[in-house]
Amino acid sequence: MNTSSLAEFGQKLLETYFKKPSMADKVFSNRFLDKLSQIESLFDHIYSQHPSRNNAFDGLLTTLIKQHKSRSSLFLKKDATKTKKGNWFLSNEITGMSLYVDRFAGDLKGLADKLGYFHELGVNFLHLMPVFESPINESDGGYAVSNFKKVAAQFGENSDLHALIKRMNEQRMYLMLDIVLNHTSNQHEWALKAKAGNPYYQDFFYFYDDRSLPDQFDQTMPEVFPDHTPGNFTFIPECNKWVMTVFHRYQWDLNYSNPELLVAMLDNILFYANMGVDVLRLDAPAFIWKQPGTTSQNLPKAHMLLSLIKQCVSVVSPGMALLGEAIVAPEEILKYFGTQQAIGSECDLAYNATQMALQWDALATGDTSVMIAGQQVISQKPIGCSWISYTRCHDDIGLGYDDYMIAQAGFNPFHHRSFLKNHYAGWHENSMAKGALFSVNHKTNDARISGSLASLCGLEKAIELSNQDEIELALKKIILMQAHSLFMGGIPMLFYGDEMGYTNDYSYLKDEGKSYDNRWMHRPLIDWKRNEKRLDPATLEGRIFGDTQKLITLRKELSILSDHNNVIWMTPHNVHMAGFIRTEEDKKLYCLFNYAASASYLTWYAFKEFGAQPTHLKDLWTGQKHKVGKDQEHFILPSFGFALLEMAD
Ligand code: GLC
Repeated sequence: MNTSSLAEFGQKLLETYFKKPSMADKVFSNRFLDKLSQIESLFDHIYSQHPSRNNAFDGLLTTLIKQHKSRSSLFLKKDATKTKKGNWFLSNEITGMSLYVDRFAGDLKGLADKLGYFHELGVNFLHLMPVFESPINESDGGYAVSNFKKVAAQFGENSDLHALIKRMNEQRMYLMLDIVLNHTSNQHEWALKAKAGNPYYQDFFYFYDDRSLPDQFDQTMPEVFPDHTPGNFTFIPECNKWVMTVFHRYQWDLNYSNPELLVAMLDNILFYANMGVDVLRLDAPAFIWKQPGTTSQNLPKAHMLLSLIKQCVSVVSPGMALLGEAIVAPEEILKYFGTQQAIGSECDLAYNATQMALQWDALATGDTSVMIAGQQVISQKPIGCSWISYTRCHDDIGLGYDDYMIAQAGFNPFHHRSFLKNHYAGWHENSMAKGALFSVNHKTNDARISGSLASLCGLEKAIELSNQDEIELALKKIILMQAHSLFMGGIPMLFYGDEMGYTNDYSYLKDEGKSYDNRWMHRPLIDWKRNEKRLDPATLEGRIFGDTQKLITLRKELSILSDHNNVIWMTPHNVHMAGFIRTEEDKKLYCLFNYAASASYLTWYAFKEFGAQPTHLKDLWTGQKHKVGKDQEHFILPSFGFALLEMAD
């Protein structure tokens, strides 16, 4: 449509729905009309040739209007506040925690009663792992959704989620939920109808009568779970067809080349926006566009779709940020912030999976060279977007950074990766780590790593051996890793249990719905009796909790830690130490992390580069003051120690 007839069309549509427009409707209408041509252009880039184009485009616009109409006044007000603030998620005052509602607190009501715990720790942003309906034994931790709009019975009811969100809002907490974009459970109503032979719903998925296209796809598509779910297709005897299942067999990939499916999913996205979600985690967005002859990951049309979703969200729920969960190669992750003219108009947030893995690399080797080689890419994050900064999450750790980074640091990529995997699996004689390899691919030699923060840092083994020295080292490693993530930039996202030093939980092996997936070893069941130990600083739990709490408090007090792309890496004078400067106007905060098992020395010259030279520094972590010495003298960090040095002239 040309611009004026499109605007007319939009205006007419609005008039049908707003007989007597309120103030909020007018604000919405302006945004709607403003974005209309961008939305249409993106939509047509993807769907102009599709026979359902017109019908689906009308459906999309109607969905926006209808969802706006059901947005509560509380969230409309919140939209206005957030819009005024701009990119609210860049703030240093936000610290998150990711958790399973049932494993953490039983159910949603139980979680509402635990909000005090988060305040005590300093956490004001919660990522609830999926809480919508999902078949118990084939759920992939809730990522196989059978009803996007109904809370699963084991967590409670929709009203419990609303009540929790209301309390969180009263207590100025933020919420993140997932939209599982790429697939549904095979028990979702759409899948059941498709299985029963309904062609309209079969078009929501990738169905094939024979193996010819599946075989073609399989030639170039990698496998996500090669050990327990090899291949990318599953035969469905009920309808005698093959369906695409990139993840587990019970997770059917959604077909976004069908615009009707996009509209249906947009409705779910906006349903979550209207529940009051502050950050929507787009699960596995790298996979949402498929094309034979490619890996079917990170394709340009996937980015276009995300950009389209972003524009639609910004019309209905302008304060809701989008997090792209793209755990892919470093350069590819960056593209989820948008590319070229579209920078900043795709996802607002992405996981800094590269940095996370590089910290684990440095912890195993005691050498930060690979981490430093990776910064060139990481630092290209556009201004106004941010990272989710983390050491652990519910998933495995993939060593997804590039081979050239390893080679640039002077190591052989194959041997280096093998060393890391063996180290964290605990197979090296002198490794204290106790993890496991996840999704081993014998064809490519690829494998990822499971294990809790504490166990990978050596605490589990050290306790088993009653080795006090190793216990102390493990504690230092845990806090070093957390401090680095908290001060590096972006929203820190803790994983529940890590603040208390929970080690691996092997009970998943007795559960048939979980035993095939060792990621469950690092998804603990919280024992609230044990969590009381946090109040006793003489216990391991008390020490880890206290240090984590102190780090969060420090971060909140320092506006220099807001993410304005204000990270300058220091010259790596000592390979064992990672050092960067956070800057704000003429202020500087030197953040230094020693990944070596022994003390590391850094020439004072390192502090005299990059602008104003300090004469005195105060370590905000220890309270210690340092006089900046001569270049041939050194600042010393103890083994696995770190320092947060503020200029104190
Ligand atoms: C994401 C989730 C992961 C899940 C996968 C499939 O990567 O984080 O837990 O297995 O998507 O939904």
